[in-house]
Amino acid sequence: MSVEPSTAAPFLEIEGVTKKFGGLTALDAVSFGVQKGEVTGLIGPNGAGKTTLFNVLSGFVPPTSGRVAFRGETVTGLRPHAIARRGLARTFQIVRPFPGLAVHENLAVGGLSNRVFDAGRELAGARAAAEQVATRVGLLPWMDRRATTLPHGLLKRLEIGRAIMTHPSLLLLDEPFAGLGGHEIDEVSGCIAELAAGGLTLIIIEHKLRALMRLVRRVIVLNFGRLIAEGSPQEIGANTLVREAYLGEKGAARLA
Ligand SMILES: Nc1ncnc2c1ncn2[C@@H]1O[C@H](COP(=O)(O)OP(=O)(O)OP(=O)(O)O)[C@@H](O)[C@H]1O
Ligand SMILES: [Mg+2]
Repeated sequence: MSVEPSTAAPFLEIEGVTKKFGGLTALDAVSFGVQKGEVTGLIGPNGAGKTTLFNVLSGFVPPTSGRVAFRGETVTGLRPHAIARRGLARTFQIVRPFPGLAVHENLAVGGLSNRVFDAGRELAGARAAAEQVATRVGLLPWMDRRATTLPHGLLKRLEIGRAIMTHPSLLLLDEPFAGLGGHEIDEVSGCIAELAAGGLTLIIIEHKLRALMRLVRRVIVLNFGRLIAEGSPQEIGANTLVREAYLGEKGAARLA
C-alpha cells in the first residue's frame, strides 16, 4: 500500500473564498482543505454561510473572490455540470424529487442530468445503474413507487441516491438528517457510513450534532461567513468561541 506524502495538495482546496450578496458578506475569506477519503462536518448557526459554501463549491454560485481547487485543478468559475463531471456531487437542504416519476426514474435522471449516460440508448443501462445505487442506499424495495408517496426518511435516501448516480469522488450533503426522527436518522446515517467506508470523501452540513459527530473525525465551524474553528469533535466542543456562537453549554455537552 502506498502512503501519500503529507505535502500532497489537498483533494479539495478552498482558498480565501468570499461571497457577497449586495451588502451581505455570506462567506468571508474562508480557507480550508479536505484530504481524499476524509469525512468532514460543517456546522454553524442559521445563516452562517454553510449552504452558500456548498453552492460555491458545486458551481451554483460564483464566489466574489477566492479560489476552489478540486483534485489539483481550479474549478472556480466552472458551470455546475462541468464540476459534477469532475466528480463532485451534492444534495439539497430541501428534498425535491420529480413528482410524477417513480423512484428508479428519479435515480436515473440523477445520472442523465449529469450526462453520465447518452440519453436514449442508455435507458436499460440507467435502470441497472439505478438498481445498483438503490441497493447502496436501501431503496430497492421501493423502486416502482412514485417518489412523492415515500416517507421523508426514504426521500432523504433518494436524494443521496440521485447524487451518487454520477459516481462522485466528493459528496456534499446538506442536512441529510433534517426533519427525520431517531430511527430514520440511524438508517440514513448507516447509509452515509457505508459510503464513507467505500472511500467516498464527504462534507456534511448538519444541526443534529450527536448524529453528525458519530460520522466525522473533523469539524469546520462557520459563523457570520467566517471560519471560526476547525478540529476534532472534542476540540470543537471545548472551544469557547464555538460555545458562544453556536453550541451553548448543552450543545457542547453533546460533543464531549
Ligand atoms: N441567493 C442569495 N441571495 C441573497 N442572500 C443570500 C442568498 N443565498 C444566501 N443568502 C444569505 O446568505 C447568508 C448565508 O445563508 P446560507 O443559506 O448559506 O446559511 P446556512 O449556514 O446554510 O444556514 P441554515 O443553517 O439556516 O441552512 C444568509 O444571510 C442568507 O440569507
Ligand atoms: Mg443551509
